[in-house]
Amino acid sequence: NGGPQRVGINIPIKATDIPGLLRFAQEKAIDLTVVGPEKPLAMGIVDVFKRHGLRIFGPTAKAVQIESSKVFAKELMLQEGIPTAPFMAFSAYHPALNYALSSDEPFVIKVDGLADGKGVYICKNEQEKREVLEKVMVKRVHGEAGDRVVIEKRLKGIEVSIHALFDGTTTVMFPASQDHKSLLEHGEGPNTGGMGCYSPVSRFTSDLMSNVKHLIVQTVFSALAKHEILFNACLYPGLMLVNGKPYVLEFNARFGDPEMQVYVRRLNSDLFELLDCCVAGNLEHAHAEWNNCYTACVVLCARGYPEDPDHNAYPIYGLKEAEEIEGVVIFHAGTMFYDRVYTTAGGRILNVTAVGETLEIALNRVYEAVDMIMFEGKNFRKDIGKVT
Ligand code: AMP
Ligand code: GLY
Repeated sequence: NGGPQRVGINIPIKATDIPGLLRFAQEKAIDLTVVGPEKPLAMGIVDVFKRHGLRIFGPTAKAVQIESSKVFAKELMLQEGIPTAPFMAFSAYHPALNYALSSDEPFVIKVDGLADGKGVYICKNEQEKREVLEKVMVKRVHGEAGDRVVIEKRLKGIEVSIHALFDGTTTVMFPASQDHKSLLEHGEGPNTGGMGCYSPVSRFTSDLMSNVKHLIVQTVFSALAKHEILFNACLYPGLMLVNGKPYVLEFNARFGDPEMQVYVRRLNSDLFELLDCCVAGNLEHAHAEWNNCYTACVVLCARGYPEDPDHNAYPIYGLKEAEEIEGVVIFHAGTMFYDRVYTTAGGRILNVTAVGETLEIALNRVYEAVDMIMFEGKNFRKDIGKVT
């Protein structure tokens, strides 16, 4: 995107072009590669780089299954007694449909494989269950990712995102944050990759964090180790707090977006040191120091996101003015920088963050900045940090 040109050079190699990335890292003798998205991880970029003696932060293809296969993750949770919604897994349409219709209760239908954060459907009635299963398993809109599905009970509660670094021995927990996943206010509309978030989450106490560390995060690391899979990277469980008890909705094996935008604003120590030590198996010597600022992030997305985003390049106005507001930093996502102008490029376009002494101050600053930024088709949620 257009953001990094302010601090470095963008190299036009696709994130999924693993031979191209390998060649580049070898030619330039890159000391540490950090992988952002899940697709190259699932394609085995970490295995390939390591085989060639290059240092890289991210899980191996085997370890990333905790994210890239919902069936794998759910079965592991079942075996290890990690609290999660009751579920059934299916690889054929008719049995899946029969099960989905066997109860009038709402169900959550999830495609097994990676689907850019768009493979989870909350189905409230028979018609929605029929439509989703047909779309996923008959029309195969997610391709082979939808050839197996998980059908699970819908949980109601408060969502919290957890991030934990693990180097094989030491676990470093990040503070909790809360992401808002649905496109529209009050949890309405389709599920997205994330429309905004904030941290800290006051109701997520240190006791809860300690429970999550021992009963969920470290249980996953030792369960994977039993299968001879070393997890060396960031584990990001998405949790639902149901009456104060944490249930795992899913695992990711990378940093969250927009969670990480908020975390880097709260991290006073050096992110590079953490990642470098994690890769070196040296995390116990790294220090993670977090500030107490309330931090919020609001995502500005393109018209039509997530189903059919407008990919046109429209000029973006007001970025500079918005960044002059106290406490505001803007991270780019779906932007381009061309002819000295920032333009949109589709999907989630910008992440507007702000820090403040209270959540209210942080949110006021974020929304003041959001109002100053203009582009054709700008969409965002107005209730980030205000609803649970
Ligand atoms: P996942 O990719 O599995 O985290 O699902 C994406 C989003 O769908 C979550 O962040 C929740 O908002 C919602 N979701 C997933 N599973 C459930 C569930 N069992 N009950 C209620 N909401 C869910
Ligand atoms: N915030 C959702 C994700 O990164 O998957």
